[in-house]
Amino acid sequence: MVRRWPIQKASSVNAIYDHAYYWPHFSAIPAQANGDIMIFTISKLTGHAGSRFGWALVKDKDVYLNMLKYMQLVEMGVSRDTQLRALQLLKVVLEGDGREIFHLAYEKMRDHWEKNSQIVSLSKRFTSQDIPPQYCNFFEKVRGPSPGDTQVSFLHM
Ligand SMILES: Cc1ncc(COP(=O)(O)O)c(C=O)c1O
Repeated sequence: MVRRWPIQKASSVNAIYDHAYYWPHFSAIPAQANGDIMIFTISKLTGHAGSRFGWALVKDKDVYLNMLKYMQLVEMGVSRDTQLRALQLLKVVLEGDGREIFHLAYEKMRDHWEKNSQIVSLSKRFTSQDIPPQYCNFFEKVRGPSPGDTQVSFLHM
């Protein structure tokens, strides 16, 4: 799932793309990500939410410099401990051909999704979202859904 937030007062930038879940284990990757500002978090890549580490890819240099200034003023930068931990995690992600973690995590997430959907389907009062299979450029095949969460709707009777 990709969320899009409008930005005001920025001449050359139109939107921030929240790519927290734009990883092959949560979502098909239909196209190369190419937004003006794209933000990511290690919490959804490896499950290390407590490490509080994220990063951004920013095209506009002025926007990047403003973000850097904000980070320095508000957060006083990212702690060295956190940086070292994130580096270690990313090294593990890249072990082998760098794809293994995504295959493993996709299977786990898909199993969770199928079990959750099956449970919700037994209910006459609730329904979960219908996510069609989609071609994934990472896996190079059509793949079934494996979102990080199940959105449940109440059926009015
Ligand atoms: C859509 C989305 N974006 C960003 C985040 C931020 O992730 P974190 O605060 O764990 O880095 C979350 C966390 O739940 C999320 O669901």
